[in-house]
Amino acid sequence: MMKQLNIGLFGLGTVGQGVIEQLGENQALIKTRAGLKIQISKAVTQNPDKKRRVDLSGIAVSGDPAFILDDPSIDLVLELIGGTKEAKEIVLSALEKGKSVVTANKALLAEEAGEIFQKAYQSKGLFGFEASVAGGIPILRDLREGFSGERITAISGIINGTANYILTQMSKENKDFATALKEAQEAGYAEADPTFDIEGVDTAHKLLILMKLAFNGLFNFADLYIEGITNIEPIDIEVAQEFGFVIKLLGTARAQAGAYEGRVHPCLVEAESMLGNVNGAFNAVEVFGNFVGHTLAYGSGAGSHPTSSAVVGDIISIARQLKVAGQAVIPPLSADLNQLRPLPILPMEQVICPFYLRFTVADRVGVLAEITRILGAEGISIGSMLQKERSSSQGPVPVIIFTHKAKEEAIRRSLKKIDHLEFIAESTKVIRLHEG
Ligand code: HSE
Repeated sequence: MMKQLNIGLFGLGTVGQGVIEQLGENQALIKTRAGLKIQISKAVTQNPDKKRRVDLSGIAVSGDPAFILDDPSIDLVLELIGGTKEAKEIVLSALEKGKSVVTANKALLAEEAGEIFQKAYQSKGLFGFEASVAGGIPILRDLREGFSGERITAISGIINGTANYILTQMSKENKDFATALKEAQEAGYAEADPTFDIEGVDTAHKLLILMKLAFNGLFNFADLYIEGITNIEPIDIEVAQEFGFVIKLLGTARAQAGAYEGRVHPCLVEAESMLGNVNGAFNAVEVFGNFVGHTLAYGSGAGSHPTSSAVVGDIISIARQLKVAGQAVIPPLSADLNQLRPLPILPMEQVICPFYLRFTVADRVGVLAEITRILGAEGISIGSMLQKERSSSQGPVPVIIFTHKAKEEAIRRSLKKIDHLEFIAESTKVIRLHEG
């Protein structure tokens, strides 16, 4: 019977150091709960000599991956280096050798899912990836275990702390985009390349993982619709507020009549709703199930300690399973691999939801009539409308239209016609509404 779990850690960055701190500070209670001693005996990093904020005594550090991978005494490999190339080699090699693996690497799991999960299911080692989605919120465990008897109909998540921090600072503190991004980076929320955060790619990686667990489908990352927050302007935030909304970057997945939506884009969310009150770097994930109804899980989605919490939870879960059963008891993707089918994601053109449209037009007779005529011809019904007064004596004015539910393709066809009209000064801004 296993008495001690020996860990080899790849990566001594923000999360790696958080894991060392947590395993140290909570050592006694972790031992009580896991039923065995858990210890990091080795670490591999690109800069073995770099000074770290945490105490590394008791951990042998090297720059050579074989130091961990070729050591038969290592039971579990922690992959906390990020990126997809080297991380993939480490994860596959560890699983191949029958070691268990815990990773926080959402990009790897979204983009290289086929190979990684195939290997994880075949390996004698166990596989944990709770930290890959929503940091400290154990949402994967919710989906895999707590909701295992539910038919999940929809998931909506604020699952990128950096984007949420930026949008919150823009709307509550009137800060500009660049300052807010810099602050999020300094706080340790952002990816090494923050483009992934602000362009919605990180949210998409996480959404894809959620979809696999919720819908038991092998979805393709390339089929997701992805739009980030870089085009959100202060005027959109202001108008949204006037109408009782806030703007959030959401990952949305819905299952309807055998079709699956998977999309990432900014959304107008009711300001009074729980999701609308998730601010700063916090994350939240709404799950709708056919028996449980509406649920919401909330917490810190990024940063050293919230992410280490998810990693340590996975380590303990693996220790418990190895100790008692010597193998995985809970399938990583909520079902056995042979139960999972490749499933398509509905093309964005087919998605139906209400829309916010901001036109920038010359202020003169007939303009509104022409816009509404084109929308009407496409069967798009208008919910409410607002024209802002001009700030100077001349120049274009914003006209905002909220539509009832409409199909994306009808909106795109209408805007193609409208944006060519001579009274349109700028291309029309489209933001979709979240349906709670
Ligand atoms: N860059 C991510 C975020 C980190 O901002 O949420 C956690 O995955």
